[in-house]
Amino acid sequence: MRLDRWLGNRPELGRQLARRLLAEGRVRVNGATTQQAEQEVFTFDRIEADERLLQDGPGGRYLMLHKPRGCVSATVDARHATVLDCLAADQRADLHLAGRLDFNTTGLLLLTNDGQWSRGLSHPRHKQTKRYRVTTAEVIPPQLVTAFAEGLYFAYEDLTTQPAQLELLDEHSAYLTLVEGRYHQVKRMFGRFGIEVIALHRDRIGALPLDPALAEGAYRSLTAAEVAVLRPAD
Ligand code: URA
Repeated sequence: MRLDRWLGNRPELGRQLARRLLAEGRVRVNGATTQQAEQEVFTFDRIEADERLLQDGPGGRYLMLHKPRGCVSATVDARHATVLDCLAADQRADLHLAGRLDFNTTGLLLLTNDGQWSRGLSHPRHKQTKRYRVTTAEVIPPQLVTAFAEGLYFAYEDLTTQPAQLELLDEHSAYLTLVEGRYHQVKRMFGRFGIEVIALHRDRIGALPLDPALAEGAYRSLTAAEVAVLRPAD
């Protein structure tokens, strides 16, 4: 919601006072004074007017995990370890996954307690790209570059995949960049050509690369700039 509307809806302010506070530069969002009426307000922004705290910011948690092989992208599972088992016990509460990776896929996985942020991230309208490093058992024929760019028809879902970018690295490995995340999409795209994916690693979501300092199973908090870079502009 826009900041002017958000302030105007606060019962303790009312429309007139909200307008005046904003115009007079008496409103701060995350510590920075703002007079921008159209600025978007997010769930975990700290919002103050003069010395009055209107919304308490801290509380938003955003983690980047280097998912290891052999765990489930879920918060509970009866049979297998989950990605939450990678986190210290006191870090797990209230987190959900912003996207998933298959059991044996490694790489960048995001966890958060901010549903607004994760919904924006996964919404097809925002087309956040995901880049995978793919290793295959068979040689990758160069014509897959065009085939993936044109899209593949999946009869089960009755849809054609969005244009995907394939960058060949050598005969058995490539980067594949997708703008969507269908069920087992990478494996199914290669499988269409009789090619088995033997290792799959996600190294980037949109403008956010997996931190190379994170070993498999390690995680860290995102910086404020990293959280912002994955927020949709609208
Ligand atoms: N596509 C797959 O097949 N598996 C993943 O984990 C991610 C994308």
